[in-house]
Amino acid sequence: MNRAAIGVYDSGMGGLSVWRELRRLLPCESLIYLGDGKNCPYGGRSREEIIGFAEAAVERLLTEGVKMVVVGCNTATTAAIDHLRQRWPELPIVGLEPAVKPACLATRSRKIAVLATEHSLKSDMFLRTASRYADDVEVLKVVGRDFVEIVEESEEHSERAERAVRSVVEPLLTEGVDKIVLGCTHYPFLRPLIEDVVVGHDIEVIDSGEAVARRVKWLLERYDIAAEEGNESHLSFLTFHTEEYRLLLERKAQSILEQMSK
Ligand code: DGL
Repeated sequence: MNRAAIGVYDSGMGGLSVWRELRRLLPCESLIYLGDGKNCPYGGRSREEIIGFAEAAVERLLTEGVKMVVVGCNTATTAAIDHLRQRWPELPIVGLEPAVKPACLATRSRKIAVLATEHSLKSDMFLRTASRYADDVEVLKVVGRDFVEIVEESEEHSERAERAVRSVVEPLLTEGVDKIVLGCTHYPFLRPLIEDVVVGHDIEVIDSGEAVARRVKWLLERYDIAAEEGNESHLSFLTFHTEEYRLLLERKAQSILEQMSK
């Protein structure tokens, strides 16, 4: 049994979509969320830069005494996870990958779309996964232009968001895809808009949040580091950006909790 917190890290607010699933599945676990904010978005940045940010984030979380780190960011996972695991071999580190495998296993039309950042779609990790599972499946790679910025600016319910989602998702309606994979943790915050566009087209929208939470649970049990049943868990928020941004993270998390309790 171990009451130390799990650290969850993202370039900004997107990882809160993973945090939500962790909270849902593991309510006894304390969570420390670190949303970089200062260097967000990561999507167009170089691998070296992202490795530097990810390393600083894990260092910061370790000073808080976390027992495990969840890299709640596909982009940081593709760029830095191997490096982080080499540097901290004793620390359980869980990364996020676009849900290409489940989409490929479930597609009937043999054609799927993966929405992600430019960096993730170009990465070796994505290409490896895609070639392993998507042998006879056509994978359309689509960058969610402006999606990350919209979520960071809390504009998910704006006309700007609707326009951005339409311009990315509408062209997919005539492509014959039956799965759309959300390969960036910011994108689930735009899921209601994405679902509005695909409604009636027999297209399923898939993200990795729940699967990652299940993986975390499995690892906690395997390493025997889960908090005990009934543990009074704590939630806290950190950033490399301003106090104002940290408060935004806290508020967004609060509204997620309110949604969950409805
Ligand atoms: N949330 C991130 C991801 O899952 C990255 C967004 C960004 O900073 O570009 O890829």
